[in-house]
Amino acid sequence: MAQARESTPEICLELRNVGHQFGSLKVIEGISLRVPKGERRAIIGPNGAGKTTLFNIIAGEIRPTAGTVLFEGRDVTQLPTYRHAEMGISRTFQTTSLFPKLTVLENVGLALQAFQPGSMQMLRPRSMYRHWDREAEELLAQSGLSHRAHEPLAGLSYGEQRQVEILLALAQKPRLLLLDEPTAGLSRGDLKQVQAPLKALSREVTIVLIEHDMDVVFDLVDRIAVLHNGGIVAEGTVDEIRKNEVVQEIYLGGTHR
Ligand SMILES: Nc1ncnc2c1ncn2[C@@H]1O[C@H](COP(=O)(O)OP(=O)(O)O)[C@@H](O)[C@H]1O
Ligand SMILES: [Mg+2]
Repeated sequence: MAQARESTPEICLELRNVGHQFGSLKVIEGISLRVPKGERRAIIGPNGAGKTTLFNIIAGEIRPTAGTVLFEGRDVTQLPTYRHAEMGISRTFQTTSLFPKLTVLENVGLALQAFQPGSMQMLRPRSMYRHWDREAEELLAQSGLSHRAHEPLAGLSYGEQRQVEILLALAQKPRLLLLDEPTAGLSRGDLKQVQAPLKALSREVTIVLIEHDMDVVFDLVDRIAVLHNGGIVAEGTVDEIRKNEVVQEIYLGGTHR
């Protein structure tokens, strides 16, 4: 059950001593983090550091074996994923959750109606959810994808498909957007298609992103937390992290394996 905790309205996301183990494998431990509203925060770290596990915990897909997750001051640690989504936490969809043969507009329209609580509109005839088209069209216009609306999703570049995934997460009108490696596998040219709309996003939405591409990180975020061996080893502004010796050691010293 969500319960009112001490109210810290300026903090969007707070983790208190969060830990998780899969069986006997301790993946993350003692993670404490505060992300103020509107901030763009990157979580970086080597493969296997526990970044995705941490995201799954924040999104409610995994319940941590230790600690507390607070969203806008409310304890959401034990809430199911759909409650996280309803409360305003949204994460990017994987490509596989899109429908490649349907048009871009249809994909967005389907996602919009699926977010309506308690509805089983997937079972209704297409004509009954036409009215989602208008909202879908607006969303596409906002992200500069209108000209692609009637193309099958599969015909879009990878960059554009990622853009649609992000747009679907935004269709839920989240106040916290979680992006797990949004630019992974993209060419330099495609990167901009993901980067530009994220940069333009209103500060009403707080962004936490896992990202390997340091150019993207340095371009997008205010602060960085570095995860290594399941714990946060450094936290600071882009400049502080760039200069941080521990971080340089992890990334350049080859000691992370
Ligand atoms: N469902 C799971 N069951 C067992 N081990 C897992 C599971 N998910 C992740 N792990 C392990 O947890 C560690 C951290 O994984 P992950 O959170 O995916 O790291 P990252 O996203 O930083 O690469 C890895 O050693 C991984 O093998
Ligand atoms: Mg990962």
